[in-house]
Amino acid sequence: MRARVDFRSDNVGAVSPEILKALESANTGPAAAYGEDDWTRHLNERFSGLFETTVTVFPVATGTAANAIALSTLTPPYGTIFCHEAAHVHTSEAGATEFFSGGAKLTLLGGAGYRLNAAELDQAVASSGRDQWHRAQPAAVSVTQATEFGTVYRLNELAAIGEVAHRSSLRFHMDGARFANALATLGCTPADMTWRLGLDALSFGATKNGGMNAEAIVVFTPELIKDLRHRLRRSGQTWSKMRFAAAQLIAYVEDDLFLRSARQANTLATQLAEGLARIPHVTVIAPVEANEVFLQVPPRAIDWLAAEGFLFSRRSPDLIRLVCRVDGSEEEIRLFLAAVQRFMERL
Ligand SMILES: Cc1ncc(COP(=O)(O)O)c(C=O)c1O
Repeated sequence: MRARVDFRSDNVGAVSPEILKALESANTGPAAAYGEDDWTRHLNERFSGLFETTVTVFPVATGTAANAIALSTLTPPYGTIFCHEAAHVHTSEAGATEFFSGGAKLTLLGGAGYRLNAAELDQAVASSGRDQWHRAQPAAVSVTQATEFGTVYRLNELAAIGEVAHRSSLRFHMDGARFANALATLGCTPADMTWRLGLDALSFGATKNGGMNAEAIVVFTPELIKDLRHRLRRSGQTWSKMRFAAAQLIAYVEDDLFLRSARQANTLATQLAEGLARIPHVTVIAPVEANEVFLQVPPRAIDWLAAEGFLFSRRSPDLIRLVCRVDGSEEEIRLFLAAVQRFMERL
């Protein structure tokens, strides 16, 4: 039997019915363009309630646009942005941040579990050559929550990074492509994980968690808004029919849909990891704290699983990434675990 079980990415998932319904409801007659509509106004009010402070929300098409354009407002072209060496902005966005910022640099740092470490950041800033005109100038720090390794920063870790950022006059950005997954894990409020820690701007993900094609830049620091608005227009990221992006994002947070969806995906990942832990010769190599599982397994097993029709992302000859989605199922987990078990018994 060829299974059709898909763990490649959370981007392969379907759109949540609530979001499709919201799009249909927004599809009634004319509405003002470029964000002057009622839905976008309501989006700002709704997110200000969610974050317990006045925020400005700019819907954009992709997470890359959110990251790169948000970061471009946080650094001068001669600045540098500190981030983890595994950060999506460095590894997977084709230099978008460097492009949109007009040439700012990324300074790459280490950190266990793909998490930046405040002490290392502090040291890097201290040796970065502030006010030396031969050096790129320290401007911002960017963290990914949840990380590219499926781990989650604890609030005290983020607070420590925020403290270094504040003390060192760095702007603070979060790539929240999987913001809801991290929030569900920590069980804190959106405010606790963002502006209360000193965050200036958040790339707020929705697409991976049941959204269709809207992400957002959420701005906590009002002085950034004017610049950002110009940059977004100039980058072709100001939708004329903004109401349809706003409608998606409103539906995404209504009745905590984003959290319920993230909990579902996280639970599937936990079940997958627990099942794998019981099978010999395979190792889950990172703590499963969101919806991703990184699995070390003999290369022959990976080839066999792929031939059986299981879909996943192969990161190296013996390492695969499995991503669980809101529209995934326990049956998929069961099928995958049974297949791995079957192969391992034959070893
Ligand atoms: C950590 C992280 N940040 C940002 C993104 C956004 O990417 P995209 O521009 O493909 O929406 C992704 C998508 O894979 C991601 O995993």
